[in-house]
Formats: sequence, structure tokens, C-alpha cells
Amino acid sequence: MKRNKNNKNKWYDHYAQRARKEGFPARSVYKLQEIQDRLSVLKPRNRVLDLGCSPGSWLLFASRIVGKEGFVLGVDLKPLSIPLPPNASFIQGDIMELKDEPLIRLGGDFDVVLSDVSPSTTGHRFVDAQRSVDLCEAVLAISHHVLKQGGIFVCKIFQGIDFKEFSDKVKKDFEHSRSFRPKSTRKGSKEIYVLGSGKK
Ligand SMILES: C[S@@+](CC[C@H](N)C(=O)[O-])C[C@H]1O[C@@H](n2cnc3c(N)ncnc32)[C@H](O)[C@@H]1O
Repeated sequence: MKRNKNNKNKWYDHYAQRARKEGFPARSVYKLQEIQDRLSVLKPRNRVLDLGCSPGSWLLFASRIVGKEGFVLGVDLKPLSIPLPPNASFIQGDIMELKDEPLIRLGGDFDVVLSDVSPSTTGHRFVDAQRSVDLCEAVLAISHHVLKQGGIFVCKIFQGIDFKEFSDKVKKDFEHSRSFRPKSTRKGSKEIYVLGSGKK
């Protein structure tokens, strides 16, 4: 059988190489950078909650923008692979279980909720999209509790039949909403970011 040379490092593309050179643990940092360049979601001194943050590229990027008077809290099932910057903190845990009591410990008053959370995928688009929307619903529920009035919401979702219903919920909760697909998203990927600004 002929071996496809590209299979081994299928995902090791230009963005992955650049991330490595620039000291970020994942190529996904360039998706947040594009969102930031277009929509200025993060500002100096912001308090940011990053749900599904491991291996830590978004957390690192956000911590640089918010600066030493800002704060970033990351949550993920997996541990972080980077040393934490002084203005950041991390909780290892399941966001599906954060919806109730542990939220109190997170405190409120976040300016921005970011989520690049991805479910473990099965390869079945329908199932993966359903898992993704379940996670996004949890992110939105957490945002209701912790985001300041006027706050910003950024959440990745795998597009499926529930995409519109989820976007409509974001539209209802925020003054402005839109979706955005960064150029650095892999070809063929169904992922897109739903953004809400001006939490009501
Ligand atoms: C694409 S990665 C995030 C990459 C990150 N934004 C970065 O730039 O390094 C998605 C993450 O979602 C996390 N995740 C999936 N389900 C989760 C859950 N229920 N609770 C917390 N984290 C979860 C995974 O462990 C994974 O680390």
C-alpha cells in the first residue's frame, strides 16, 4: 500500500509552525487573534473567563492583552501545558458541572467569556455537532451568571441542525450578535464562532 506522506503530520501546517516559533502551545491562537483584530473583544484590564482553555494558547494571548491589571481564569478537563502568567489562574474541571454551585466560586463580574471548547469527536458529524451544542449551551448558561452587563461572549460551535437555535439564543441575550469564521480555520471544518456583545 502506498503511504500518504502528508498523513503523519496532517495538522502540522503553517499556523502550527508559527505557533511553535512564537511560543504558543496551539495553532488555535491565530483564530483568537483574527477575532481580536476584527472585533476587539479583549481590552486592557478586562477580567476574562476562558472555558475549554487547554493547552493554553488563548489564555496566554488574552493574558497579554488584559495586562497586569487584568485577569484571566481558564477551565479545562485537561491540565495546562504552559507555565501560568502572573495574571492568570486555572481550574481543572468539567464545564458541564460548573453550571451550578462551583460557579459561585468563580465569582461574577467577568467582562468577557471566551470558549474554544471542543467535544471529543466521533467522526459522525451529527453526533459531534450535538456534543458541541451541548457544551455551548453550558458556556451560555455560565455566561448568564458570571458576565457583567454589557459583557462579551465568544464561543466556538460545530455547525449542525441546532446551530440556528443556539445563535438565536445568543441574539436574544446580547445587544449585538454575529458569527465569524477565521481564515486560520482548517479547510472542511464545520466550526464557527458565535459572538455576542452587550450582554443585556
Ligand atoms: C480546541 S481545545 C482549546 C484550545 C485552546 N483555546 C488553546 O488555544 O490552547 C478544546 C478544549 O476543550 C476541552 N473540553 C472539552 N470538553 C470539556 C468540558 N466538558 N469541560 C472542560 N473542558 C472541556 C478539551 O479538553 C480541550 O482542551
